[in-house]
Amino acid sequence: MKIGVPKEIKDNENRVGMTPAGVAELVARGHEVFVQQTAGENSGFADEAYVKAGAAMLPTIEETYAAADMIVKVKEPVGPEYALVRPGQVVFTYFHFACDRALTEAMVKSGGVCVAYETVQLADGSLPLLVPMSEVAGRLGMLNGAYYLQKTKGGRGLLACGVPGVEPAHVLVLGGGIVGQAAARVAAGLGATVTIADISLPKLRELSLSMPANVTTLFSSRHNIERELARADVVVGAVLVPGDKAPHLVTRDMLHIMRPGSVLVDVAIDQGGCFETSHPTTHSDPVYEVDGILHYAVANIPGAVPYTSTSALTNATLRYAIALADKGWQRACREDAALRLGLNVVEGKVTYRAVADVFSMPWQPVEI
Ligand SMILES: NC(=O)c1ccc[n+]([C@@H]2O[C@H](COP(=O)([O-])OP(=O)(O)OC[C@H]3O[C@@H](n4cnc5c(N)ncnc54)[C@H](O)[C@@H]3O)[C@@H](O)[C@H]2O)c1
Repeated sequence: MKIGVPKEIKDNENRVGMTPAGVAELVARGHEVFVQQTAGENSGFADEAYVKAGAAMLPTIEETYAAADMIVKVKEPVGPEYALVRPGQVVFTYFHFACDRALTEAMVKSGGVCVAYETVQLADGSLPLLVPMSEVAGRLGMLNGAYYLQKTKGGRGLLACGVPGVEPAHVLVLGGGIVGQAAARVAAGLGATVTIADISLPKLRELSLSMPANVTTLFSSRHNIERELARADVVVGAVLVPGDKAPHLVTRDMLHIMRPGSVLVDVAIDQGGCFETSHPTTHSDPVYEVDGILHYAVANIPGAVPYTSTSALTNATLRYAIALADKGWQRACREDAALRLGLNVVEGKVTYRAVADVFSMPWQPVEI
């Protein structure tokens, strides 16, 4: 199969759909890979590395789309890319269709086959192509929480790891899923004392067995959260209620419980945020203050570390990209129920029910 890897053109997107290592795997299996020139530059992958891996470099995005039976990228196509997708062409990327009617209509019109990373789902309900970004966001969110505790950054002037004779920070993590576990491990590794709160008792049991000794588990309730806020220096918001907005676990009237200069890190901001006072921020202007409490609520945390994020994403997507390339999308999706759930728009039809429902469009289950 001919596979195209275009350069991302969405604002501030530095990741790329495939690393040279991924290209080498596909080439070794007899596929042709076309990479747009400088596509990997911002992730730290030079054109020469792609050439060495066996890719052919193309100068423009138009040529890259035109050369390929399947496009592998990171973000959803944006306006100028809509017309580049052609009937029957597979596009394998994050789409998040339900947030974007124009994109959905454009992809229906294109006749392309849109396989969305975010809806590839295993039998246990987990989302293997979202996990790597949560793993990055939890770790980096926590590191930023520790960073903004510095007085010079607006924080309360505390070294998160402490020093001999001076206590470390106390970190409260709300939500014990992928993001929360990643944040708790980094906090624990720094030497902070950590509380991780969740509403799932099986999850709390599992965490109490697997987390380091300086992490304690707590049932998530308003009462317990209020008690923890009085001693928390950093609170990481990492809850997810599938298909719904994040609940506001810390309301504005609870901020006075915290010590001034403490930091709220709202990783769940992409689902509306779990602190009432959160609003999305950017890497160029990441924090703001409400009632003396710093808020860090960057909506695309993994974008700050494109080398790591690109590599982690390719590690997860590659096996599916290989299946699509080796077998064609019909057979690959027929043989893999998880991948089949990634089919959102197929040759002019919306095939993913939630997307059809959101836009009151006809839902047409895919027949393969
Ligand atoms: N800002 C970013 O750049 C970025 C990057 C990746 C993920 N995220 C977001 O981070 C959030 C968490 O993602 P995840 O992969 O860890 O999800 P996950 O499903 O693995 O974990 C969510 C956890 O929240 C728990 N939870 C639900 N309601 C709760 C409550 N009231 N109190 C405490 N815990 C509760 C669930 O039981 C679950 O364990 C999502 O909103 C995700 O979209 C943001």
